[in-house]
Amino acid sequence: MENKTTTPIAAFLKKNKICPVCLVKRLSSATKVTVDGADRFDNGVALTPPMGWASWNLFRHNINENLIKEIAKAMHDAHLDELGYKYVNVDDCWMSSYRTSDGKLQSDKTTFPSGMKALVDAVNSYGLKMGIYTSNGTLTCEDLPSSLYHERTDAETFAEWGVEYFKYDFCHNEAIPTSAPEIDKIMIANPKTGEEITIQAEEAQLRGDAVVLEDKKLTSTGKYVSGLDAGHGSMVFYDVELPEDGEYIFTIGLRKFGLYKKYAEIVINGVDTYPVTIPSCKGFTREGRHQITVNFTAGKNTIMIHNPVGSRMDSAAKQYRNMGKELQRATKLVAEREGREEKPICYSICEWGINQPWKWGASAGNLWRTTMDIDANWTSIVGIYEFNVRLAKYARPGNWNDPDMLEVGNGNLTDNENRAHFSLWCMMAAPLILGNDIRTFLDENGNVDKSNKVLKIISNKAAIAIDQDKLGVQARRIKTNGLVDVLVKPLENKELAVCIFNKGPKAMEGSFSIKELTKESFVDLPETDRYTVFDIWNNTSFVAADKIAEVLEPHSVILYRIKAMA
Ligand code: GLA
Repeated sequence: MENKTTTPIAAFLKKNKICPVCLVKRLSSATKVTVDGADRFDNGVALTPPMGWASWNLFRHNINENLIKEIAKAMHDAHLDELGYKYVNVDDCWMSSYRTSDGKLQSDKTTFPSGMKALVDAVNSYGLKMGIYTSNGTLTCEDLPSSLYHERTDAETFAEWGVEYFKYDFCHNEAIPTSAPEIDKIMIANPKTGEEITIQAEEAQLRGDAVVLEDKKLTSTGKYVSGLDAGHGSMVFYDVELPEDGEYIFTIGLRKFGLYKKYAEIVINGVDTYPVTIPSCKGFTREGRHQITVNFTAGKNTIMIHNPVGSRMDSAAKQYRNMGKELQRATKLVAEREGREEKPICYSICEWGINQPWKWGASAGNLWRTTMDIDANWTSIVGIYEFNVRLAKYARPGNWNDPDMLEVGNGNLTDNENRAHFSLWCMMAAPLILGNDIRTFLDENGNVDKSNKVLKIISNKAAIAIDQDKLGVQARRIKTNGLVDVLVKPLENKELAVCIFNKGPKAMEGSFSIKELTKESFVDLPETDRYTVFDIWNNTSFVAADKIAEVLEPHSVILYRIKAMA
């Protein structure tokens, strides 16, 4: 007689021979592959938005080791390092067209002849950190060797060189297939004894859309499992008895079909995941196989096979997360190997926003590009701002929206436009990665040119402090008439940054009420009658009770830091 206390779920598990512990493990491993439920990427860096310089915006492919060294020296001589600009990032085109004989990336033989390790050392000698670039594709955007399918090797190479920032682009990306293979059996061989067991696919427990089908041309039982695609189904083999802990040869028997790639993950005991990509196949024979090495434990094992990738977004998230894990693994490994402190790598995802990285970026890296590339003109800057300003809720310490590197000082941007661009990026808690020629900040004698207008903007400590505020909150747009916006960014110690932004080509008035700001739910500014208002670009302070209204020049901002008076 059935025990009266057995719940319907327990009865179901018993009837279907599902061990409750394995089920919990399986479900938790399944959540790891969903986009929203994944863990936060935390490598201890970028607790405020990263600051530095990168080669792409101005120099494009015209880079070499001397230029990078000169920039690093100029950053140091112009005291930019003291303001927080610490990364010197070499973007695309540093690499040779071919890897070394042991499969490692290497630098261009003529433009970077001393190699990247030597360049990292040179950059480090100025107290700065070096950044590097490749793509999450088969080639970079400039069609040079890249890191897809080389993640482990490349992460280790960068860690060995002592790189501390890594930008991972999306050109030549190959999406993980949503199709899964059709499986007729699995075989597990012990490499030490040569003993092999074969389990027919139809013996697996099936879930979701997984189904047993027949194909008389298959030589074994003629049965195979289909329907494992795009997270819709899985097959689980329970109680697979193996004599000892260790590595086994795991072969999946395939029913061959389709001139396209397929993907599956083999999950062992709900813990270890082995991804497999099955090539597109010609149908000369009906049966194929795919072989990997897998770790099993002595006794009973559970083997689940599925393809959790349901979309391009899943694919991008998985590939970027994978590289993030490899970077963390590599920096730890190299630190242990060399007996030195770990140098974590700030991980910059450059996926241009096409798969909504703000939704999964925090589980993959430290920052994620939200838009296509910036250009040194007003239309581009405003367009990127308009997009990025809406993503405020996704930014937080350690994980930032990235509206792209700065164009301050490039192209024909006016002084007002440069100041506006810089202020907006500070308000949006954006990475402050300069893109201009830093050497122009020094005169011919190597002294700082204090009259340099661009230098004055990018070295304004009060503006930088807004970007670098430890609360790590991205500004919200609280008001707009289409041409004039008001942005508000909560700061530490119950202070507030407010930016009035005139995007338009004519002078316009912009205004806000401090009293109304105190009522905004995301603002923690005390209600009082007197506030100190610091005008950052004018370097003046005044006392205000409530309303502030100003006429703004075209394409300009006014940037305030506001504090309640005691
Ligand atoms: C892409 C990126 C840019 C830059 C170039 C280099 O376009 O978005 O920021 O890195 O590639 O080729």
